[in-house]
Amino acid sequence: MSEPISVLFVCLGNICRSPLAEALFRQVVEEAGLAGRFHIDSAGTSSYHIGEPPDRRTTEVAALRGVEVVGESRQVTSRDARKFNYLIAMDADNRIQVERLVERLADANGRPELHLLREFDPEANGDLEVPDPYFGGPQGFENVHDLVERSARGLLEYLVERHGL
Ligand code: 4NP
Repeated sequence: MSEPISVLFVCLGNICRSPLAEALFRQVVEEAGLAGRFHIDSAGTSSYHIGEPPDRRTTEVAALRGVEVVGESRQVTSRDARKFNYLIAMDADNRIQVERLVERLADANGRPELHLLREFDPEANGDLEVPDPYFGGPQGFENVHDLVERSARGLLEYLVERHGL
């Protein structure tokens, strides 16, 4: 069996968007019977919430839709940039941060592929950000759930095609 395809989702705090992306991508991968082919994780660019569980507003919206979001916030590292095949950022700021980690890698050939998650949202209409819901109301969390779910499906389609799964 070949090495798993490793995918790291990255947001700012690793308590709202990226743990949700991790959970929803894991769900679509499992539904497709491809769990053994992937290693999936998430991290934040900041140290604000290290060690904390996902935000309750995220887990409650997900639970109503039958999805469990779990984890413990951690900060993205240069080791992640070396180890993961795909780094998937939620917004442009997160993307700049991970780009910096990637650019520092000595071996250009071993660099991970970098994307914004909503590149894979068929309904993105040119808006490639997963908006930060942290300081907003409950509707923001529902909106984030919907667009992350669509994007997770789109990402799996891309990877299935790319890797001939
Ligand atoms: P996340 O949301 O990046 O989707 O996990 C946030 C969590 C915390 C903060 C901002 C965004 N904060 O400023 O503490």
